[in-house]
Amino acid sequence: MTKLSVNINKVALIRNARGRDFPSVERFAESCIELGAHGITLHPRPDQRHARYSDVRVLKTLCDKYGVELNVEGYPSDEFLRVVLEAEPTQCTLVPDDPDQITSDHGWEVSRNAKLLEGAVYKLKERNIRTSLFVDHGTSELGLIRDMGADRIELYTEPYADSFFDQLKLEPVLRSFRCTSTAAQNLGLGVNAGHDLNLDNLDRFLSIPGIMEVSIGHSLVVESIERGIGKVLENYLKIVANGN
Ligand code: PXP
Repeated sequence: MTKLSVNINKVALIRNARGRDFPSVERFAESCIELGAHGITLHPRPDQRHARYSDVRVLKTLCDKYGVELNVEGYPSDEFLRVVLEAEPTQCTLVPDDPDQITSDHGWEVSRNAKLLEGAVYKLKERNIRTSLFVDHGTSELGLIRDMGADRIELYTEPYADSFFDQLKLEPVLRSFRCTSTAAQNLGLGVNAGHDLNLDNLDRFLSIPGIMEVSIGHSLVVESIERGIGKVLENYLKIVANGN
């Protein structure tokens, strides 16, 4: 069965807007776990504009309490690795983000970054942290990833999500994702996936066999707002109706 890891970044972004601990990422993560989520993902970026490095430790303690996995994503800078190695999450997903990038928008060029990635994977594996590299579908560098000792890849799924409503594009894109996934599995790599997956497109993506984990943040939060607005508004309207 594919595991769902809820990415908490968007909740951290809302929290940071007011400078208080509201909403609390810890409380939100705990609700997700209590509702059945299999794991929590956090992606602290160097400017900590949403997830903060201090959130990693808090969420690690929470995930340990409930026996679920914490996945920490990010660019393997010295600072990022120091935080991850100290917190020892279950999994660390290495992502080729520029410091001021809005969101991840491509996978690794593994050979061009081999030294950086080999060093990071080595340090993570020394602490028994499962390592995953964020890659584009169609990558020809799976052998290199396996040889450097990584455990999994995470397929960058935005190209799939973008083609979802275009039948002509969708089939070839999905085929390419399936080929990359099968090739990775044949080399002994586990396959995760994430980015722009949502309630509309997830089911079809999971027709690809053997996807171990999806991490989903943006749409999950947007869908929660859109689908939850009815109940919340109803309650506010009841209160104002009882007022003066
Ligand atoms: N995987 C990676 C590497 C990401 O950077 C993100 C976004 O932080 C996700 C998955 C989740 O993407 P989304 O927020 O679109 O669900």
